[in-house]
Amino acid sequence: MGRVAYVNGRFVRHADAAVHIEDRGYQFADGVYEVWAVFGGRLADSPGHFARLKRSLGELRISAPMTDAALTIVLNETLRRNRISDGMIYLQVNRGVAPRDHPFPNPEVSPSIVITAKAIDLAASEARAAKGVGVVSVAENRWGRCDIKTVGLLPNVLAKQTAREAGAVEAWFVDDLGLVTEGASSNAWIVDADGVLRTRDIQANILRGVTRNSVIRLMADSGITLDERAFTLEEAKSAREAFITGAGSLILPVVRIDGAIVGDGVPGPVAKRLRALYIGEASVRAA
Ligand code: PDD
Repeated sequence: MGRVAYVNGRFVRHADAAVHIEDRGYQFADGVYEVWAVFGGRLADSPGHFARLKRSLGELRISAPMTDAALTIVLNETLRRNRISDGMIYLQVNRGVAPRDHPFPNPEVSPSIVITAKAIDLAASEARAAKGVGVVSVAENRWGRCDIKTVGLLPNVLAKQTAREAGAVEAWFVDDLGLVTEGASSNAWIVDADGVLRTRDIQANILRGVTRNSVIRLMADSGITLDERAFTLEEAKSAREAFITGAGSLILPVVRIDGAIVGDGVPGPVAKRLRALYIGEASVRAA
């Protein structure tokens, strides 16, 4: 983790960064977050993350803590102070601090804001992508508003821990119909047995991934057919390829699902191409 955090208007040493015990993010998970990938010290897919942040805040009726322009300055300054070139930046906005009571504070209180940044080792990330990763399935047990990027992530935490204990990197939630919704911290994709690229549609109860949007844009002229249609776990296991997308994982090939080998057991051409295109484009934009 970087050495400097931004907390409610001040840059502070990471070791000293703290929020109030009656912050509603702490007590009720009454807050939202965003994570940007960072390449060459620049925010990747910035407009998409800003748009989603605005939407998440709006859905929960939390006031924006500052304008997009001011927030961009603070995010960039956080990157600069932590000397991040390639990494991730995390932003959390909570409804604010008030004596514990479930309804919104009245009168409204100022939202609280925290930003942290960390470097990632792109070479290690590439090595992991070159091998591919495993996922495990877990029953979907989240609330009905997973389109809002809230900090209420306990089901995701438990799912991720299940994955880790199984030697996998991600967990895929599977709904009552046997259809994959998304990962604990990523969107889920396959290239099905017919060669069609599939990912669940955003009308469903999933996060509208910003990386997902970029992938859709990047593959538009590729000749690959995209169908935004959910797939079953069985379809995923017998798919040609599988992969996940997110600001943390970028585009990460999946080669095992619940221990079953996907395709040839190595990252497939579509996932590899999309990852190269995505990182290439983000790096060029950052240059
Ligand atoms: N997670 N689905 C879920 C449940 C997520 O938490 C995320 C991102 C995604 C991918 O969204 P995007 O492409 O906009 O990052 C999908 C972040 C990285 C996290 O929780 O750390």
